[in-house]
Amino acid sequence: MNYKNMMDFSGKSVLVTGGTGSIGREFANAFASCGANVIISDINESTAGDIVDACRSYSVKAKFVKCNLLDVRDIKRMVTECVTAFGKIDILCNHAGFNNRKPAIEYTEGEWDKLIGVDLKAVFFVAISVGKHMLENGIKGKIINTASVSAARGHKNLSIYASAKGGICQLTKVLANEWAESGINVNAVGPGYVITQQTQHYLNDPATRDSLLAHVPLKRFGKCSDIASTVLFLASEGASYITGQTIFVEGGRLID
Ligand SMILES: NC(=O)c1ccc[n+]([C@@H]2O[C@H](COP(=O)([O-])OP(=O)(O)OC[C@H]3O[C@@H](n4cnc5c(N)ncnc54)[C@H](O)[C@@H]3O)[C@@H](O)[C@H]2O)c1
Repeated sequence: MNYKNMMDFSGKSVLVTGGTGSIGREFANAFASCGANVIISDINESTAGDIVDACRSYSVKAKFVKCNLLDVRDIKRMVTECVTAFGKIDILCNHAGFNNRKPAIEYTEGEWDKLIGVDLKAVFFVAISVGKHMLENGIKGKIINTASVSAARGHKNLSIYASAKGGICQLTKVLANEWAESGINVNAVGPGYVITQQTQHYLNDPATRDSLLAHVPLKRFGKCSDIASTVLFLASEGASYITGQTIFVEGGRLID
């Protein structure tokens, strides 16, 4: 093991879904800074150019591929376009997701379909599309799905989101088991509270902030870099004996 160069991803191709979101763009930046070629995919392309330019400043290849994860045909097209552009995918950060907080009895069927569609169904179809590419090409790849502490807790007003994220943890175990003998590692990262474009209104409210941090032993919210550095490790050779796991990055929230 070359410990000193463990985070050197030169020659590797990384796909990050949700790549124009707050944490996703940090993943892209982190991998590019470690020498990887990076493809970001998202439905929102407004900041894609800036993120791609920032990645290219590390002298790596970078590209944006638009995709609506609610459409399985679009997922397959997106993965094909990534493979065509970069020749291969070595690392998948299956990261896109969103949240919609309300009491369980107030959700509509349409809201269920959309939340489960992006947060669980798309995670499955992206994983199997990339997994098939890895299996067919003998790529000993790394897949890192993004779960949440909500997968391990029964927090109110998150019934659908928690169902999806809990499903991701189980999906991670099964895919890890199915693909282990082909040398593909499948793990998940489970962020705690991170202030992002999706959570800022909720987490920046002083009363909410105080009540949430009362249950976080490290007494701060997570930073995007806290999540990205864990993902880098899971994608590295240093994590080659870890598979099927969800690594929670949550300031100790789950030990309370
Ligand atoms: N921020 C937190 O506190 C927190 C905690 C736990 C887990 N997470 C997870 O981290 C991931 C990123 O969250 P974030 O807080 O950075 O949010 P974000 O909104 O900044 O990023 C999410 C990205 O997913 C994309 N996306 C949503 N629907 C899509 C669709 N149909 N097709 C393609 N892309 C789509 C959005 O456009 C966005 O860029 C999510 O999976 C989220 O559940 C976040």
